[in-house]
Formats: sequence, structure tokens, C-alpha cells
Amino acid sequence: MHYGHFDDENREYVIERPDTPLPWINYLGSENFFGLISNTAGGYTFYKDARLRRLTRYRYNNAPLDTNGRYLYLRDDGAEDSSALSSFFSPTWQPTRIPLEGYECRHGMGYTKIHAKQNGIESNVRYFIPLGETLEIWELTVKNERSIAAHLSVFSAIEFNLWDAMDDATNYQRNYSTGEVEVADGVIYHKTEYRERRDHFAYLACSEPVASFDTSREAFLGPYRGWDSPQAVEAGQCSNSITYGWQPIGAQQIKLNLAPGEEKTIVFLLGYFENPADEKYDPPDSSTLNKRRVTPVIQKYLQPGQVETAFQDLASYWHDLLSVFQVDTPDEHTNRMVNIWNAYQVMITFNMSRSASYFESGIGRGMGFRDSNQDLLGFVQQVPERARERILDLAATQLPNGGAYHQYQPLTKRGNNAVGSEFNDDPLWLILAVAAYIKETGDWEILDVPVVYDNQPGTEDALYGHLMRALNYTLDRLGPHKLPLIGRADWNDCLNLNAFSSESGEPFQTAANNADGTVAESVFIAGLFMLAVQELNRIAGHRGDTQQIDHYTQAAADMEAAVWEAGWDGAWFRRAYDAFSKPVGSKDCEEGQIFIEPQGICVMAGLGLENGNALAALDSVRERLATPHGIVLHQPAYSKYHINLGEISSYPAGYKENAGIFCHTNPWIMIAEAMLGRGDQAFEYYAQINPSFREPISDVHKCEPYVYAQMIAGKDAPTHGEAKNSWLSGTAAWNYVAITQWILGIRADFDGLVIAPVIPTGWDGFSAVRVFRGTHCHIQVKREGSGNQVALMVDGEPVEGHLVPLSAINGKEKIHISVTIT
Ligand code: BGC
Ligand code: NOJ
Repeated sequence: MHYGHFDDENREYVIERPDTPLPWINYLGSENFFGLISNTAGGYTFYKDARLRRLTRYRYNNAPLDTNGRYLYLRDDGAEDSSALSSFFSPTWQPTRIPLEGYECRHGMGYTKIHAKQNGIESNVRYFIPLGETLEIWELTVKNERSIAAHLSVFSAIEFNLWDAMDDATNYQRNYSTGEVEVADGVIYHKTEYRERRDHFAYLACSEPVASFDTSREAFLGPYRGWDSPQAVEAGQCSNSITYGWQPIGAQQIKLNLAPGEEKTIVFLLGYFENPADEKYDPPDSSTLNKRRVTPVIQKYLQPGQVETAFQDLASYWHDLLSVFQVDTPDEHTNRMVNIWNAYQVMITFNMSRSASYFESGIGRGMGFRDSNQDLLGFVQQVPERARERILDLAATQLPNGGAYHQYQPLTKRGNNAVGSEFNDDPLWLILAVAAYIKETGDWEILDVPVVYDNQPGTEDALYGHLMRALNYTLDRLGPHKLPLIGRADWNDCLNLNAFSSESGEPFQTAANNADGTVAESVFIAGLFMLAVQELNRIAGHRGDTQQIDHYTQAAADMEAAVWEAGWDGAWFRRAYDAFSKPVGSKDCEEGQIFIEPQGICVMAGLGLENGNALAALDSVRERLATPHGIVLHQPAYSKYHINLGEISSYPAGYKENAGIFCHTNPWIMIAEAMLGRGDQAFEYYAQINPSFREPISDVHKCEPYVYAQMIAGKDAPTHGEAKNSWLSGTAAWNYVAITQWILGIRADFDGLVIAPVIPTGWDGFSAVRVFRGTHCHIQVKREGSGNQVALMVDGEPVEGHLVPLSAINGKEKIHISVTIT
């Protein structure tokens, strides 16, 4: 069942009814100021940090679903019984949920538009955040389509959050007394804690004269009422309330008299502003907020002309970002995900990491070390400068022993002590990220940038040194089978082989009941290590560092021997060894006999490509793990809690890490299949979890059909096919990598651009434009046979192999690459 459709021309998803199976959201903002917005205008806004600087309140887990947002009410002041509840409605459906005669929501690149029609009144709201600004614009246009004049009131309403969202949701004994506001010239200023240590405030402004306002929630809603039936809207008037503590809100009433056919645009601004510490008050010895600096900003954006200019700037910003890679394949789902939504999601994931979505509360996690490095693989081509900064930030949290804090705080850029380290795969991902960055940019100098360890001045070491310490961290921690020790967990945060947790509520990831952890090993880390060595050796080769190459080549050979010795189960790679040295992911196990992760990563590292084991492993995946909704993590699912395995066995079968379809891992198999030349199989897996392909089953899938979700319930789950945890997941980056770099086969390399498509046999070719190191590479691929042999011509000249060398690219504005597949 469909709830909407794609409008690829406008790069929008059009939602046709408000009651989608879950709120379907979008993100506003590009650098420091962000908003989450659902198809019914739910969501919240924050500055930089979703926990510490949250402007508006949002209630997770609430009923009705998706409570709190950017609320508008349209009231018919001229209606016969204008004081009845039926005299007003919400032009975004929520919060009144009064059925609308017309509704449409368009989620686009950094903006959302919601259209409604009711009783001869048409409304359109456009929400976005101008580039470089810390304010959100809601531009509302109301049109009277009646044959008589319409006398209307527009009410706006938001609920301010008292900055720290965690405190806001827990510390009522204090925060019921701290709320403070100020109202001047129709602008509502939220200034809780401004008198003490804050120099920032929020505001709600409006381009029209404000007929009345409220800042007290109690006054606006009326006792015991909800946002669906505010007393002030019912009465047709706010009471100009000033709140002292309790729940500060911003609500404004605007009178609108429209002749037949007339329309009017009103601009609302929800903003954040910082005053210099010595200019907080005006006059300086008063307690009145100094508005001198913010007023010009407010005045600027209250002009509709300025709003349009800012909107156009945002459109060109996204146009430029997406232009880096555009394809035209025979498959519309591939085109739309590569050209629009997957690329967009990858950027959003870069901005948000795992902080704020409808599944991530914004108060939970810092930035994951492993997550951020993998996210970078997807967005590096769009914003290489910001990728560079991210790499250096990450490396600065690396520990002197080469390990990594599992998470760091975006605001302080410090490692998070509460979660700590010893997720033994973590540091290796840094090597993959740095390699991807250099391949994209050719910025070899980054390797010589001095970077501290653990943010400690005086510990500077070249980034190159950090990479070697990352490899050494693995080599310093080998277990009884000479495989890497797993520590708290590897990629699978829930495979906790040393946790032995028996206390309810104890976090699995930080429980350390088997603290020395000198036995449990990970085959996954072995594969990841080998992949990382390959990248490091190529980097070392460029520096002529043959000593390191020899050293790590030997280490990788030893690792490979250990994998064949202890990590191979006969028809697939084993997953791990537990703390008793018993295999995990083996035919000898009762449950959890085969896992997806080592099959993907080991084949990606080249293991078994020559001896046929890679083929066998992938055939086992297809046989045992593949479903029509994607590939599950393992089989059989764990039916009970295994204390020696940890959180993985805490989930009901088929969900999350217990045999869910963890979409992050599926692209590894797509890549592995492409490496084996099986384009049809790779593409089949790609299609199964591609959200656009899944759009017709939206009632099963439930999450947004335009972005990936982290997890789709596996075949053991009663709700097989149902997605959860949309938006912020490594799934975005890895699917982007799988389709663009391995199936379409266009990938940046140290020495040029590799073109090695492994496309479905049914495709007669495709074309693409890839901006690589400043050159527009126009690529035309034609299939003439059913294999994957590639013949390249660059600007009419034949080129040997798969690589378009830098010499054919550098200094050219545009090149033409024609590719024949036979
Ligand atoms: C989730 C994992 C996640 C971890 C992070 C677990 O509960 O299942 O997917 O990585 O929490 O702390
Ligand atoms: C989500 C975490 O963010 C990621 O780091 C981890 O690899 C997966 N869950 C699997 O556990």
C-alpha cells in the first residue's frame, strides 16, 4: 500500500495522507542548527547538540504519537458558531487531527512543505533553515477560495524546552521554577537560565502584527487540555500571559481578513541567538534582554523576499552536493536512491551521527568512533573538507595504546568515559576512513598532520602513526587461536562475549564481568584487520615505507593462516570464539550457526577468492540467511538468553541483533557478490532493502520509503518485513558504497578513478557523471556480453584495465569515459 509517491524531478517525497504508519520525518538545517520535522509538523529544533541546546520540547513514546511540534491553527472567526471546537483546524493535521479535505506533505532536500484545504480555505506552509543561520522559517500562505470574505485567526504554538533535554524531562523540582520569557514588539523570547550562566536565548517572531499571545502553557491550553483543543484558540483569543516557571511556550494570534480569492503570506521565525557575555542586557545593569544584535536578523528574515532568496540558496547548496554523483540506469529505484535520497541520508547521518531521530532521543549517545568512520565512507565525496576535520577529530580521541573511545561528545570532542573503550574493532575503521578520504582528495599531507592522543597536549603524533597504532592494537591483542580478541564487542555491539551479565538493567556494553577478556576472539575483526592492512600498505607504499609494508604483510599472512585454521567452518566463516574458546557461528552450535558479518568482511578482505571458500560462504549466506526482505544477521535465532553471548540473545528472535535484517551488513554481501562477479545476486540483495523498492509495501515496512532503516524484522519475527530505526544508521553509507562503488563500480582510488561495473545481466548499460578531484567524469557504460570484462576508452583513447589514471584526469574540466562490458 502507498501513502505517497516520489517526485524525482523536484527531489521530493510526496505524502498524500497524514496518517502514515509511523511519523515520516525529514531534517532541516545543514551545519549548526537543525530541526526534525514529521509529515504533520511534529518534531523539535536544536542548536548543535540535541541534548544540551534543545529549543523546543518533544515527547518521545507518547500518545497520541508524535506529540509536540511546530503547531498552527486556523480559526474561522466568522463562522456561525465560532467558539465551537469545529471552527478551527490544523493546517498540518496535527495536533487537532481534524480530517482535512485536502492534505499533502512534500519532504525535500532540507525543507518540508505541507499543504491543506478545508472549508474553502487553502494553506501552504514551507519549513526550512537558511544556510548559515540559527533560525527556522515557517512560511505560511493562506488563501480564501470562498466566494465571500473570510475572517480568520492564525495561531502559532511551540513549547520551549529548558535547554538540556535530559534535565527538562526529569528535573521537575527545579525546572518548574526556572522558566522565564520576555515579550517585546510581538516577539516572544525564551530566556530560561539567561540570568545565570547562559548567554543564549530562543525566540518566536512573526511578520504580522500579533493580536494576542501566550507564553504560559496553562493559559493557552486551559487546565487539563491538550494541544488538540487549546482554550485560547477555542475562545478566539490568547490572554497575553507571561509565564513564571512551569512550561514556557510561544503562542501568537494573527488576524487575517481575506477577500474572496485573496491570499496572504505570514512568516514565523523560531530562532536561537547568542549575545556576547558582556552585552547580555540592555540597559547593561537591567535584566532586560539585549535585542540589538538579534533584531536585524529577525527583521531580515521576516521579509518574504528574503525568505525566497534563502530558499533558493538552500536549493543550490543541495544541487551542488548531489551533483557530485548522478546516474542514469535502467532502474528508477537505483536512480532515485543514488541521485537523491541515499546521498541525502548520508549527509544527514554525517550531521547527526546517531544523536537525534525519531528513534534516537538526542540525549542518548555521543558520536560513535566506529559509526563516524563508516559514515565518512558515504559522504566523503560530497564534503571532503568536513571529512578531513572529522578524521582529525576522531584521531584526537584515539588512545595512546591505539585503541579508541567507543564514543565521543560532539560539543567537547572528547572521548566518553562512561562508555569507555575496548570495542576491539573500533580503531581499525579509522584506517578505512583515512584511505577513503585520500582516495577521494589526493590529500596525502593529512598523514603528516600532528594529532594528539586522547586530547592530551604533548602527545602529538602524525596521523600516519595513529593508523599504525590502530593496527598494532589488534596485533597486541591476539587470543588462543591467534585471532583478535573481541573485547567488549566488535561491530556487533550486542555480541558481548565477556559481559556475563546477570543483573537486570546492567548495560551489556560496559559490563566487564570477565574483565581480562583474554580468550574470546573475533573472526570479524580478523577480516577487518586484513582489509585495513591492505589499505595501510598502499598508503605506506606511497610513502616508500617498505619496512612497514613487510611487517604488516607478514602480520596479515599470519592472520589469514589463523582464519583458515580456526575461523573456517567448512562452508562459511565462523563468527567468534566465546570466553570458553567455544566457536560461535559454527554448524556445531545449536543456535547461531552462521552469521552474516564475517562472510561479508572476510570476502571483502579477499579471503577465499582463490580457494573457492568465498563462493561457498556466499552460497551459504543465500541458502541460510537470505529472505525476500533482506539478509538476516544469523540463523538460527537465539531462542533464549545465553549469558556467554550477551545482549544478542536478549532480543526476541528476529529483532535487532538477534537475527534481524540489520541493513548495515547487507551491503557487505552485495560488495562480496560483486567481487565474485555475481551482479544479479548483488543487485537482488540491493533491491530487497532499497526503501524505494519497498514503497509498495509501506504498510508492512512502516518506516519512511525514502530512507534506509537500521533494521527490518527477520524471518523469525512475527512482523517479518517491518522496519525500525530509520535514518541514522551506517546502513546509509554502506548501501551507497555498495551500489555506487561496487555494483555500478565507480570508485575513487589513490591513483585514479576505478570503473569496474558488476551490473545485472539484464541491464544494457548506464551513464553517470562523477565529479572526481574537480573533473567532471562523464561515464557511458554499454553492455555487449553477459560477463564483467571491461574495456575503457578515455576521451577516445583506450586505457588498459579498470583504472582511469590521474594523468588522464588531472587538470581537465571534463572527460568522457566510455566503457564496454563483455
Ligand atoms: C543496540 C545496538 C546498539 C547498542 C548501542 C544496543 O541495544 O541493539 O544496535 O549498537 O545498543 O549502545
Ligand atoms: C548500531 C551501532 O551504532 C553500530 O556501531 C553497531 O555496529 C550496530 N548497532 C550493530 O550492533
